[in-house]
This record gives sequence, C-alpha cells and structure tokens, in this order.
Amino acid sequence: MAATLVMYVMICLVFGFLSSPIAQAGDPDIVTDFVIPANATLDGSSFTFTGIRNLYATDPPPTFRVTKIGMKEFPALNGQSVSMAILDYPAGSVNPPHTHPRSAELLFVVEGSLDVGFIDTTNMLFTQTLQPGDMFIFPKGLVHFQYNKNATEPAAAVSAFGSANAGTVSVPMSVFATGIDDAILAESFKTDAATIQKIKAVFGFLSSPIAQAGDPDIITDFVIPEYATLVGSSFTFTGIRNLYASDPPPTFRVTKIGMKEFPALNGQSVSMAILDYPAGSVNPPHTHPRSAELLFVVDGSLDVGFIDTTNMLFTQTLQSGDMFIFPKGLVHFQYNKNATESATAVSAFGSANAGTVSVPMSVFATGIDDEILAESFKTDVATIQKIKAAQAGDPDIITDFIIPANATLDGSSFTYTGIRNLYGTHPPPTFRLTKAGMKEFPALNGQSVSMAILDYPAGSVNPPHTHPHSAELLFVVQGCPDVGFIDTTNVLFTQTLEAGDMFIFPKGLVHFQYNNDTESAAAVSMFGSANARTVSVPTSVFTTDIDDEILAKSFKTDVATIQKIKAGLAPNPK
Ligand SMILES: *[C@@H]1O[C@H](CO)[C@@H](O)[C@H](O)[C@H]1NC(C)=O
Ligand SMILES: *[C@@H]1O[C@H](CO)[C@@H](O)[C@H](O)[C@H]1NC(C)=O
Ligand SMILES: *[C@@H]1O[C@H](CO)[C@@H](O)[C@H](O)[C@H]1NC(C)=O
Ligand SMILES: *[C@@H]1O[C@H](CO)[C@@H](O)[C@H](O)[C@H]1NC(C)=O
Ligand SMILES: *[C@@H]1O[C@H](CO)[C@@H](O)[C@H](O)[C@H]1NC(C)=O
Repeated sequence: MAATLVMYVMICLVFGFLSSPIAQAGDPDIVTDFVIPANATLDGSSFTFTGIRNLYATDPPPTFRVTKIGMKEFPALNGQSVSMAILDYPAGSVNPPHTHPRSAELLFVVEGSLDVGFIDTTNMLFTQTLQPGDMFIFPKGLVHFQYNKNATEPAAAVSAFGSANAGTVSVPMSVFATGIDDAILAESFKTDAATIQKIKAVFGFLSSPIAQAGDPDIITDFVIPEYATLVGSSFTFTGIRNLYASDPPPTFRVTKIGMKEFPALNGQSVSMAILDYPAGSVNPPHTHPRSAELLFVVDGSLDVGFIDTTNMLFTQTLQSGDMFIFPKGLVHFQYNKNATESATAVSAFGSANAGTVSVPMSVFATGIDDEILAESFKTDVATIQKIKAAQAGDPDIITDFIIPANATLDGSSFTYTGIRNLYGTHPPPTFRLTKAGMKEFPALNGQSVSMAILDYPAGSVNPPHTHPHSAELLFVVQGCPDVGFIDTTNVLFTQTLEAGDMFIFPKGLVHFQYNNDTESAAAVSMFGSANARTVSVPTSVFTTDIDDEILAKSFKTDVATIQKIKAGLAPNPK
C-alpha cells in the first residue's frame, strides 16, 4: 500500500508540475537559475527534499491532515513558482472552505473518492465527485473545499500550486476565530449574537501564509473594441454624475467602476468603487481575489479590519481624510457604527476587475451541502440551516486590501492620516499635487496601488508628464478641468470633465490637465502601482542638457526659441 502511494506521488510530482498553470503572472521572476543561501554547499542535495519519506510509514491520521512542501519547508523552491501539498482525508473528513491568495490549485486524487467544489465570483458553485487518478483545478483566489463522504474508507490526494508560497486563508477560522465583533458577524450572517457565539466557541486558532500577482500586462496603449470610434469620450466614464443628487441609500451600497462598467479600464490594472454606508450599516466580510484595496474615507467615520494569513485581526477607526490598505486576497470588512450619521468612501483597486467573494454569500447561499458546512463550522445541521435561511438577497459587496512592511503591526500600520488637514488650509496659489504612494505610506509597498490629490486653482496647469509604471484613473471632485493624453501614434485625445466624472490616462502615455475656468478644481487620482513615478516632459526635455540643435530640429524651430524656453524653466531638480 505504502509503495503504491509513493508511486502515485512520484507520478503526480511529474504530472502535476507539467500541468500547473505556471505560465501566468505569479511569483516574481528571478534572474538566476535558482536562489540558494550564499554559503550553502551546492550539490544535488540542495535541490532535494526528503522530509516526508516516512509520511506513510505511520498510522493514518485521525483527522484531515495537510502536509505542505513550500518555500518554508523546502527553501530551494524560492523563486521557482511551484509547491506541493499531500492531503489525507480519514473517512467522513472535510478540508473546510478556504482560499489560496497566490495560486490556483491542481488536485490529483491518489486514493479513495473525494467530493470537491469551488465558488466563482458570481457565487456559482461548481462541484464534482472524483475517483483515483482524477485531477481538478481550483482557480486562483476562489473559495473551495474537499469532502471524503465515505464513512469507512480514507482518501488521499496531492496538490500542485503555481507559487512557492500559495498561502491559505481558512474561511471558518478567519471569520470566527479572530475577534471580529459579534455584532458585525451577526449583521453579516443575518443571525443573532447567540448563534455567532455558539459557532465561535468551537474554534481555536490556526495559522497559514499568503502572496501576489497583477493583471496581465497589455502590449498596446489600451484595449478598445475595434468598432468603437476612438475619441476622448472612449476614455471617459460619466455614469455616476448623479449619484449624490438622489437620496442616500437605505442600506449599504457599493457602486463599482470596473472593466464591466467602464470598458476602457480593460488592461489598465486599475478600478474604483464608491461606498455608501448609512448609519449602522456593515460591508460584510469579503475578499478581492485579484487586488489589494486602498480605501479613502470621504465623509463620516468607519471601523475597518482585515485578517492576515496567520489569523491575526487588524482593526482601525478611520476619520474622513484617512486611508487604509486591505492587502490582496485577505478577508476584510467595514462598519459605520454611528447610529445617526452616514459615511462615504472611495476605494482604489490595482486590477481592472478585482472581483469580490462575499464570505456569507459564497459559503451559505450557493448550495454547499449542509453536512459539509456543519462539519466545517463544527456545529449542527440545524444551525447551518438557520443561517442559510437568512442569506437570500444579501447585497453584493466590493473592496480589496494590501500588505504592511515591518514595524509594530496593528491597525495603524495600514492607515495613512497625513492629509487629514489638506482641506483645512486655504486653496494653494498654484497647481498642487499631494501624493500618497509608497514613500508617504510605506504599507503600500508591494500592493500595486496608490493615490494622489490634485488641486487646480483657476487657470492652472498640470504640465505634460508620464507615469512609466501605471495608468492613472482620475476622479473629478470639484470644478471642470480639461484633460488630454497623446497615444503612441501621436493622436491627441481631450475631454472637458465635470465633478463626478472619471478619466483614464493609459499607462506610460504623455498627459496633462488644465483648469481653463474661473473657479478652482480638485481631483483624486488612483494608480495601479505603489510608486507610479512621474517624468515631467518640460523638465526632462528642456533642462537636461540635450543639445539645443537637437531640440530645435526635434521641435522644428530655431535655436533662439529653444534657448528662450530653456531660460523660463527651472533647473532639473536632481
Ligand atoms: C553562512 O555562514 C556563516 C559563517 O559561517 C554563518 O554564520 C551563517 O549562519 C551561514 N548562513 C546560512 C544561511 O547558513
Ligand atoms: C466506501 O468505499 C468502499 C470501498 O471503495 C465502497 O465499497 C463503498 O461503496 C463506499 N461507500 C460509499 C457510501 O460510497
Ligand atoms: C455620530 O456622528 C456625530 C457627528 O459626527 C457625532 O457627533 C456623534 O458623536 C457620533 N456618534 C457616535 C456614537 O460616534
Ligand atoms: C524595519 O526595517 C528597517 C529596514 O530593514 C529597519 O531599519 C527598521 O529598524 C525596522 N523597524 C522595525 C520596527 O523592526
Ligand atoms: C479657454 O477658455 C476660453 C474661454 O472659454 C477659450 O476661448 C479658450 O479657447 C480655452 N482654451 C483652451 C486651451 O481650451
């Protein structure tokens, strides 16, 4: 028996590696063949892992067991974008609902039979009964589970991951064992605090890890349907101009502006959501499989939190003007606990289609068998049915999150309060750019998202510039700025915007804004990079010692004109 299993494992090692989707954007690429500690002796054993030789020599485990072989257990996997796990299912056992933020999972059944399933971001449940030799692919970031329903026979499987550190977020543990307030859970699961406490009582604390990847890069400036007439309005979204003209919503509302609502975002790795929280409302626990979320509180106060892969809960109370970063793929929520005042926020995502997995909806409203849920949440079928009965018609939710640097880890590590008083002062006399990027807000590091606040006094210009690492999604808060960009065929696209409008400047293209009005204007911009960087065209061209003759020829003018322009520009700030 043991020999047969080892054989299956060997077959699976080969087969699993060849078949996993490791061509996708995933772990960062390395520029060497492998990453090995500098002073290690380099021989065949450096690339060998022998730690599970005796796994099948011992008795089968009494409960579900996962044996991970990732970067931590097998350091040579570092930079190789692949790892593995051996899964043992005693009769009747469940691997409860969970996600792998950094990788899809390719499961190969070695022994016995398994019922498996996952829930996509439209909350559709896909299930299958597998026999030995079958494989099943769980797409990246989606909630999934396995169940050995045979009452007498064990089952075993081997899984391959397209990441050296795929990470695991256990849904029951992250939601019920990390100190999220009972009132928030009761509201989220539409049940009472007593039921929540009953479920909580059976959980201890687990541990797990996490990872990264962005939208695929595009190789054109933008992706627009071929039949579309390409004009400034192709890059403009005006669908929410009247959002605030109507009465505030009676329940929590999320207004998404992603690729579906705004097709020009396709390929630009950035999107946005407007969040309205009536007094006392909750945005229930959810994840965004494809992006972190950078939340900016516009109005009111919010209690926010997320759970990391070690099941630590980070919470913070935010005021208007504050930002909070929810790391990619982690379960998070927001709560407006004020009983009389509403709250509003704007969120930025580093993906054109961040996706949302609602924890209450995906677990309790998609037809997962009651017995699987009862086993997963260590409660009885009657309790599961009570929760399920309350789930119909839950509002769709939105939002994402990000990861911190070192320092003391608590809610404040994910909070940026540096611009609270920006609007307490007089408007600036000239164009002002207030960045909230990796430098100002270190927790953005690695999260592929950042923000800037732009103030345009009457008549002011944000001169032509490019952001080499990111598109820019501009949201006009006040006034009527003119905007424009030039694509790589040198076609200029311009548009006059109004408050509430958005405009997308495709990645790397020269663009500008001009407030040709007697009133001041203001905007908030989102970037799909923690450090989008800026290359000012006037500065880079005219203050960097490019020969006058070259410039005169380039701009089809004379040297005197070039020198006049140069004289008017400040020296290049090194
Ligand atoms: C490398 O060698 C030094 C000196 O022998 C030792 O202190 C250190 O622990 C070694 N590092 C690793 C990763 O083995
Ligand atoms: C459990 O497994 C045994 C052996 O494969 C099989 O004979 C039996 O029918 C299975 N029982 C169920 C309920 O599937
Ligand atoms: C609710 O908001 C109002 C206005 O900001 C404030 O005065 C009041 O203290 C808040 N109530 C609570 C319970 O925080
Ligand atoms: C965080 O890391 C930096 C750079 O390694 C280091 O200088 C700093 O002391 C660290 N801070 C803490 C609190 O560990
Ligand atoms: C600015 O506005 C004035 C008055 O409407 C108009 O004549 C002028 O063409 C505008 N300039 C630009 C660059 O749009």
